Amino acid sequence: MRTPVLAANWKMHKTVAEATAFTTAFLPLVADVDDAAIVLAPPFTALAAVAGACRGSRVATAAQNVHWEPRGAFTGEVSLDMVRDAGASHVIIGHSERRHLFGEDDGAVNRKTRAVLADGLTPIVCIGETLAEREADETAAVLDRQIDGGLAGLTPDEVGSIIIAYEPVWAIGTGRTATPDQAQEAHAHVRRRVAALAGRAAADRCRLLYGGSVKPANAGDLSAQPDVDGALVGGASLDPQSFAEIVASGRPR
Ligand code: 13P
Repeated sequence: MRTPVLAANWKMHKTVAEATAFTTAFLPLVADVDDAAIVLAPPFTALAAVAGACRGSRVATAAQNVHWEPRGAFTGEVSLDMVRDAGASHVIIGHSERRHLFGEDDGAVNRKTRAVLADGLTPIVCIGETLAEREADETAAVLDRQIDGGLAGLTPDEVGSIIIAYEPVWAIGTGRTATPDQAQEAHAHVRRRVAALAGRAAADRCRLLYGGSVKPANAGDLSAQPDVDGALVGGASLDPQSFAEIVASGRPR
């Protein structure tokens, strides 16, 4: 049995005060959740405050990005030491916005994933095709390339421990969600490819999250798919009540 993961990606939203207010309101709403992992990914500036507010609860925190080098002259970058020091246990890597707006390629995703694992944190590696790629029937090829490139050199044990988020780019922030069938088809493909890369046992352990316009109204049907192990939520995770409802729909039934 894979424990589901419900993760909130706040992107470039919330000041420290707003992030703290969210956490104070949210924690009581999920206090009884012991059968799913909950992860909040605030912007770097609010990471320590949110991690501090979550201490003593079962809610974990994630950074939205990290640099693979441990230190040095990398203006604007944040290291794993810094992220861990702030209290994060997870790191989102290769989000489509990083890939498409900031030029991150599979090589960078791979360096970051390996660095996060070497540091003992859990990477949430994002993959997904654009609308043009889907319409050109290239979804499987794109996912294969991102999986093979992003996870190259990982041991089967490492692959089993990571979280992969399938986020079709055409569904992110558009209100256009993949149907449960489309999500299941893509997730089953991802799991097969992960099995080809790292073996069946690793693929069976690896958690695969769906992301892209997940809302309280559709989270239950998406999470009910056999290869969907939870969600990575953007817009609908900014409100405590809304994200708590998504957590409730993503729990095992
Ligand atoms: P939305 O839920 O706003 O579509 O964003 C999804 C996402 O990119 C999560 O990482």
